[in-house]
Amino acid sequence: MREAQNAVPSGASHVRVWDLPTRVFHWTLATSVLGSYLSSEWGEMEWHARFGYFALSLILFRLGWGLWGGRYARFSSFLRAPRAVLAYVKGTQSQRLGHNPLGGYSVVALLVLVLVQALTGLATDDNISFRGPLVAHLSEGWVSVASSIHSNLQGVLYAMIGLHLAAIAFYFVKKKRNLVGPMISGDAMMERPLEDGEAPSRDDVWLRLGALATWLAALSLILTALTYLSR
Ligand code: HEM
Ligand code: HEM
Repeated sequence: MREAQNAVPSGASHVRVWDLPTRVFHWTLATSVLGSYLSSEWGEMEWHARFGYFALSLILFRLGWGLWGGRYARFSSFLRAPRAVLAYVKGTQSQRLGHNPLGGYSVVALLVLVLVQALTGLATDDNISFRGPLVAHLSEGWVSVASSIHSNLQGVLYAMIGLHLAAIAFYFVKKKRNLVGPMISGDAMMERPLEDGEAPSRDDVWLRLGALATWLAALSLILTALTYLSR
């Protein structure tokens, strides 16, 4: 309904591509990863853990949203066969909605990296004053493996985030496409009319708000449980 109202008659179309939960997820994830980084730099480990738990809850939410969320948030819409990735790299594909075939895999890499970083944090010990909530329940060997992954993986995560930002800048400068606007407003401009079957799924605001409320409740549950565990 909303998309029909937003349609631009000149052959271009204005389309809701990123649903609200995906956008909220994205900006809160970026904030919590930045928060985890800064708090560890400043030695504020209680805050480090809080940001880390939040990032972990967000990733768990996103895994669910990737299966049951809005059309372009679903993994099935952006994890494409290698042939599609190749066609995209060769530039033989026209503009499409959602993550491009190459970007789709970088999204998964970012999700997995943050997930592993946060999970290993739970079993990391700084050998001074702060330890993750699982340290007390694991053997020294596991704690040392987790601590070493937690320390070493951060470089890979930051490199991936750097690549993410470089790709967005590349699109803006070279391809004259602003990807950030749609990640804020939700709407992207398609330079050609939509093809059959390309229109986004129904974007009923109440349906979306309901979904968001449910997932936020799940997040607070996980957060509360983890905060309790870390005492
Ligand atoms: C997005 C999630 C997270 C990120 C990006 C992150 C990142 C970092 C970074 C950059 C450091 C400094 C490592 C070093 O200098 O060697 C660190 C240390 C640490 N993190 Fe995390 N972390 C995350 C989640 C967590 C969580 C959930 C916990 C546990 C509740 C945790 C516990 C620790 C501990 C105990 C240290 C100290 C390790 C040491 O001094 O050797 N982290 N983390
Ligand atoms: C810690 C920092 C960041 C992380 C971990 C991160 C992670 C992600 C992830 C996981 C996605 C996929 C979204 C989804 O489908 O759920 C994404 C997409 C996106 N991010 Fe970030 N992001 C970060 C920072 C930023 C910043 C600072 C910007 C803006 C300058 C940005 C702009 C975008 C845009 C525009 C997309 C959509 C790309 C597309 O159209 O395919 N990100 N990001």
